[in-house]
Amino acid sequence: MNEQPKINFDDSKAALFAEHMVDVLNNASLALMTSIGHRTGLFDALASFPIATSAALAERADLAERYVREWLGVMVTSRVVEFDPHAKTYALPPEHAAFLTTAAKPDNMAVTCQFIGVMASVEEEMVARFRDGAGTHYHDYCRFHEVMAEDSAQLVVSALMDHILPLEPGLIARLQGGIDVLDVGCGAGRAMMKLARAFPASRFTGVDLCEDAFVETQVEAARSNLSNLRFLAQDLSQVTSLGKFDLITAFDAVHDQKDPQGLLDLVHNSLAEGGLFLMQDIGGSRDLQTNIENPFAPLLYSLSLMHCTPVSIGQGGPGLGAMWGIETAQEYLERAGFGQIETHTLPHDPLNAYFLAHL
Ligand SMILES: C[S@@+](CC[C@H](N)C(=O)[O-])C[C@H]1O[C@@H](n2cnc3c(N)ncnc32)[C@H](O)[C@@H]1O
Repeated sequence: MNEQPKINFDDSKAALFAEHMVDVLNNASLALMTSIGHRTGLFDALASFPIATSAALAERADLAERYVREWLGVMVTSRVVEFDPHAKTYALPPEHAAFLTTAAKPDNMAVTCQFIGVMASVEEEMVARFRDGAGTHYHDYCRFHEVMAEDSAQLVVSALMDHILPLEPGLIARLQGGIDVLDVGCGAGRAMMKLARAFPASRFTGVDLCEDAFVETQVEAARSNLSNLRFLAQDLSQVTSLGKFDLITAFDAVHDQKDPQGLLDLVHNSLAEGGLFLMQDIGGSRDLQTNIENPFAPLLYSLSLMHCTPVSIGQGGPGLGAMWGIETAQEYLERAGFGQIETHTLPHDPLNAYFLAHL
């Protein structure tokens, strides 16, 4: 009879892991409650009231006091909000408000917490997809485009003028002079909207598969008479030519495509002489071992698993995932024919890498 190998069981390692799992349960709950605090305006209300009772806070935020009090229970026991048990008042320390309120932009981490609810909205779907290997579709997710737009507005759009465009010397001057710009996988199109306002002599086009992602921005642009901005609803995997552009951008929009290499080939073919491709994508590595040191890795792999990978597979794509890695991105850009490729990381954005690819 074969003897089973003896497994050493380390009791103290197990006790530590049990404690870790308690933290996991508490922090996962806190992340969802943080999302609710953001969406209901509770953090902003708390910040505008130095010290408040639950009733005063509920009135300020125009919410039901009973739910506000229970939510405060989460925030106090999680050490986010301070509580005076005698006066029954609550206070949000300014050092915490600096990461949770609208005024905290671009550091408002409550915005990013909304992705927990987005991921949870497809839990049932994904359990089934684990079994059949099929993909998902954008309409399966609750609020994906809305949350994506809010997150990239604070991380990317707000940094365009001061951090991202200056990566390419002379680019701002060219935009001031008047050039043609295309944003592929534009989502809500807020990056194009910001640039169209800042550079009236240039012409901007946003293309996305999902019209519902950009329709609100399109209406806003028409209302503001922004005649240098247009949006097109198009499946980029079905397009062979987009025309010629001086600048093409892709913000977090290559790895989850049906055909990421095909998109980069299309971008390369759509650049005019002297044109530039500016691509922002997740700044991870394709090497799992390297990512162990990335403090955002569990979040990024989760977003990849619950969204980026299955939406690509759902379109018939390879499901590269968000952690395709800087290495793979550079290889794909080279394969598309780009001659000079620079990769940057920016101090304000620890999640992403910024690629400048020239013809
Ligand atoms: C992660 S989102 C990024 C959106 C936006 N660039 C931003 O940063 O907020 C990726 C976008 O790519 C779009 N997309 C995915 N597959 C596409 C396809 N085949 N053709 C056009 N757009 C596509 C999605 O609809 C989605 O809006």
